[in-house]
Amino acid sequence: MNSPFAQSPWFGGDYNPEQWPEAVWEEDVDLMRRAGVNLVTVGVFAWSLLEPEEGRYEFGWLDDVLDLLHANGLKVDLATATASPPPWFSHAYPESLPLTIDGVRLSPGSRQEYCPSSPQYRRSAGRLVRALAERYGDHPAVVLWHINNEYGCHVSRCYCDESAAAFRRWLEAKYGSIAALNEAWGTAFWSQRFSSFAEILPPRTTPAYANPTQALDFDRFSSDELLACYLSEKAILREVTPGLPVTTNFMGVFRGVDYWSWAPHVDVVSDDLYPDPADPAGPRAAAMARDLMRSLGRGRPWILMEQAAGAVNTRPSNAPKAAGQMRALSYQALARGADGILFFQWRQSAAGAEKFHSAMLPHAGTETRVWREVERLGSELGGLGAVMGTATRAQAALVFDWDSWWAIEQRGLPAATSYLALVSRWHAALTEAGLTVDLVQADAGLTAYPIVVVPSLFVMTDAQAEAIDAAARAGSSVLVTDQTGIVDENLRARLGGYLGELQSTLGVWIEEFWPLAGAWARPGAIPVAEEATIAPTVGVAGAVFVDGRATAAEWTEAVHVREAEVQAVFVGGALDGWPALTRNTRGAGAAWYLATRPDADGRAALVRRLITESGVRVERPVLEPGCGFVESVRRGDLLFVINHGAAPVSLAVEGTDLLSGDASLGMLLPQHGVAVIAAANVDVQLSPGTSTILPKTVPSSIR
Ligand code: GLA
Repeated sequence: MNSPFAQSPWFGGDYNPEQWPEAVWEEDVDLMRRAGVNLVTVGVFAWSLLEPEEGRYEFGWLDDVLDLLHANGLKVDLATATASPPPWFSHAYPESLPLTIDGVRLSPGSRQEYCPSSPQYRRSAGRLVRALAERYGDHPAVVLWHINNEYGCHVSRCYCDESAAAFRRWLEAKYGSIAALNEAWGTAFWSQRFSSFAEILPPRTTPAYANPTQALDFDRFSSDELLACYLSEKAILREVTPGLPVTTNFMGVFRGVDYWSWAPHVDVVSDDLYPDPADPAGPRAAAMARDLMRSLGRGRPWILMEQAAGAVNTRPSNAPKAAGQMRALSYQALARGADGILFFQWRQSAAGAEKFHSAMLPHAGTETRVWREVERLGSELGGLGAVMGTATRAQAALVFDWDSWWAIEQRGLPAATSYLALVSRWHAALTEAGLTVDLVQADAGLTAYPIVVVPSLFVMTDAQAEAIDAAARAGSSVLVTDQTGIVDENLRARLGGYLGELQSTLGVWIEEFWPLAGAWARPGAIPVAEEATIAPTVGVAGAVFVDGRATAAEWTEAVHVREAEVQAVFVGGALDGWPALTRNTRGAGAAWYLATRPDADGRAALVRRLITESGVRVERPVLEPGCGFVESVRRGDLLFVINHGAAPVSLAVEGTDLLSGDASLGMLLPQHGVAVIAAANVDVQLSPGTSTILPKTVPSSIR
């Protein structure tokens, strides 16, 4: 297998020359070279031009494009073009159009208008892929296959009859017998017992709640079905072009499919991410998505396959990226493990649904801020060969689980919940404490991390409970939060006080949930968010919460302690005096249980405590409240510092900024400022102060 990478980071974007007259192509490649572009993704939405009629291919124009790119030293990530079937296809095979949960047949006219289970779609896509592979597999410009595009982006669930049949086959393979399915799904409830697999349907719109396990299995099936589309294309590519690596572009922290099951099948993880430039929380969310990409590849470098150079056109109001913001977000990806920074798209379209979406080369041309910023980034990346292939190492693990995501957001639960919000809060708390975070599966190698956070692992298998326990026993500080271990993998409640096997790890059991009104209450429900107050237990040494108390919201529960130490209790309210935070010594480590959702200060205090007890050496800054999000990530021997906050920050680390060539000590980073510092042995100041990072030996001038 060839390496999917070059000597310096990939830089480029989606290139759609088919939207332009040939006369423009020469200008494209000239400007690409000027901007330092070295990789373009070609042909993502070109099916209707490549195969204008069923079985008749027209490759001449693509031959010319690839030859032109090659002649100019540009490499190609060649798309299999199967993301948007042409009009002839949908007309010939109307049954391939997806059906929504409410039975609405989606019409052609935009993109991704195919049912993933459609045999006609798979057959036609496969034929096109084979033709492309045979024609371009040994083209010298092609270095990577780009299979389809953003699987599930618009249609991640199809409820048509074809999907129903495929769902039944998937269930038969999983359960073997209808009796086993009835048992797993709990169909004795509401008279849902099935006599045969033939009676099973997708969870279409029903009078009341659908069977929860049916719904979860359909989520799992839908992810697998899209993966099967991907794998069927990959199999052809492997057969015809075994030396060429393959990828498909993920979409950050995307709910539609379970990327843990996809990741082993890509040769390089690639990602598309479009944080809202107007949202101050955007960089935090993006940091988690980047960490997920690195984690999906088990630490291997990945590619930022798409981002916007400026504005998108998908929100009600689309702010452009401010001066420097695109660069800052690009370096965030690089710091967190990317070896390529690409955009959607190279040249801004003049026509079609995305003509108001920004591009590297804007409508207004090269006398523009966006173009100048693109040129600058391209030239900087060209000099950053030192970063290639280096590792970003994490000290903390954050458990992330699609089954729990799907299941905890079903209806009929004690309270409505946003799984992503719950997990993101802990990612932010760990990140802001100066830790780098890997996202992990609960049963995959937790013992490697001094700190492990398990937020709301609602669906928990016995194997996962064992792995979490093993991490604590081996010496990790493990924090488990509310709504963990409530059900097993079939969504059957864990009887006898929830938490399953984690009861012995944590030394507690749960009697009753006591959700608070607020954040995710339905419109018309109690408008004021209820709060809970937590205070340290009298007499327990080392109070976790700053100022002795913390405020929490959304969730409380009645926890009984078997053998843990109660670190904090609820004060006032229905659970006055009940445990809110417990700690159990477990083997060489500790297992904490948090029975509520503290605010940011409370989370920060708890994370500080985990850092102290686990002895993790924090290599990055702890930010002062109000100073904004200043990221600092070590990758290999380089320290990336990125200021996403409004206020300038001054660096207190000795070294050289590779981007400016300046000494880093005392450097002022304005908003969106970036420094890539060659500096080893950086310690970090844990207490609030004006300096963000301190070198190991703090010079007297800044003491
Ligand atoms: C996705 C798609 C692109 C384009 C962009 C716009 O990432 O892959 O084709 O539609 O969104 O933001």
